[in-house]
Amino acid sequence: MGTDRPLVGTDRPLVGTDRPLVGTDRLLVGTDRLLVGTDRLLVKDCVRNCTELVQLRTQSSPVSVAVVTAQRFPAFVATKAVDGFHRGVEEIDMGLLGDDGAIVDVEWSSVNYKDALAASPDGRVARISPIVPGIDLAGRLVDDAGEFPAGTAVLAHGYGLGVSRHGGFASRARVPAEWLVAIPESLDARTAMVIGTAGFTAALSVIALEDHGLEPGSGPVLVTGATGGVGSVAVNLLAGRGYEVVASTGKAETSAAFLHSLGASQIVERSSLEVEAGRPLEAMTYAAAVDCVGGTTLANVLSRISYGGAVAASGLTGGVAVPTTVMPFILRGVSLLGIDSVEIPIVERRAVWERLAADLRPSGLDRVAVDITLDGIDDALSRILRGELTGRLVVALGT
Ligand SMILES: NC(=O)c1ccc[n+]([C@@H]2O[C@H](COP(=O)([O-])OP(=O)(O)OC[C@H]3O[C@@H](n4cnc5c(N)ncnc54)[C@H](OP(=O)(O)O)[C@@H]3O)[C@@H](O)[C@H]2O)c1
Repeated sequence: MGTDRPLVGTDRPLVGTDRPLVGTDRLLVGTDRLLVGTDRLLVKDCVRNCTELVQLRTQSSPVSVAVVTAQRFPAFVATKAVDGFHRGVEEIDMGLLGDDGAIVDVEWSSVNYKDALAASPDGRVARISPIVPGIDLAGRLVDDAGEFPAGTAVLAHGYGLGVSRHGGFASRARVPAEWLVAIPESLDARTAMVIGTAGFTAALSVIALEDHGLEPGSGPVLVTGATGGVGSVAVNLLAGRGYEVVASTGKAETSAAFLHSLGASQIVERSSLEVEAGRPLEAMTYAAAVDCVGGTTLANVLSRISYGGAVAASGLTGGVAVPTTVMPFILRGVSLLGIDSVEIPIVERRAVWERLAADLRPSGLDRVAVDITLDGIDDALSRILRGELTGRLVVALGT
């Protein structure tokens, strides 16, 4: 028998690598080295289901171990191939996920705009092919990883997840231990994914504006792209903290009730902020803004911010080029605050999640989220690129 076949056990798992196997010991999921008698074997791709028992003959004695053929599980996969671009649900095994990183049994993921770019032929986001997209995931650790024991409820997002390494659109993932966040006790995995990267980014935006001096009495706060993931959680967070929230949307007719239910007090048409070559300074209307649209919209927003105010900018759904002037900055002291959820250091990331479970916990999450399965991802990715989605889509992966 080759020593690189996947080995796994379900009863009496061995922890660590120090103890030689005896009798019918079985192997712990994720164990990557073990002693059989005096032989040290390297075990790759440990997965769960045992399919046969075989004997390993060692120098000292024969030992029975459980051997598996790699268990296959469903994943949403995007592939750039010579014959074109493909994406959809297919069966994969641990071999695709590589050898490094903690194994996470993924229970929930979510759909973000960036996933749609990662799963598009011209999206220029994915760094590997094939890729399991999914920049968000939450589930349970199969083995000890870093400071976290096996069984810990964890989430991960940002860094290279769903971009340069496989992400959350599969029931199993491998994630570097230093990217993991323990899910705070008052959140479950689904709630963590309703918040997800979008809610985390909304929270970073609110924190940045408040660090800049924004207070509930400062005046109206504008949120652009308000029905989207970042936007809808931002509306809810700000309203919950006592701000007067003005929501800009391209779906005013269909989503006004939704936005009011999240706490928006006023709604403005997206088109009013899409004026090409608008005036550099408009009437000072908003104390601050959370902008997840960018492009011409961001230029229009900057020209409407009151003296000393700020805009927290995180997105590009409306484009990357911002046709603005220096006027808002030099005549009104307006600040443009960049928001990045991807490379933020893990210590700060974990601290923001603690706040998302406490004082920054959005209250309207039940209204924001819709559950889907892997089969619904393809359609969701198409719709999010067209700006048609409202709120958050969370993906159920647990069995
Ligand atoms: N900086 C970061 O770390 C970070 C983190 C997360 C997300 N982002 C970025 O933030 C943006 C929002 O992400 P998301 O996941 O919340 O996306 P989303 O759910 O698709 O929301 C985007 C919203 O933008 C509005 N929009 C305005 N102009 C649009 C256009 N031309 N095409 C499509 N939508 C348009 C739409 O809302 P209305 O119809 O209500 O106007 C849409 O629902 C994306 O650009 C994403 O890449 C950045």
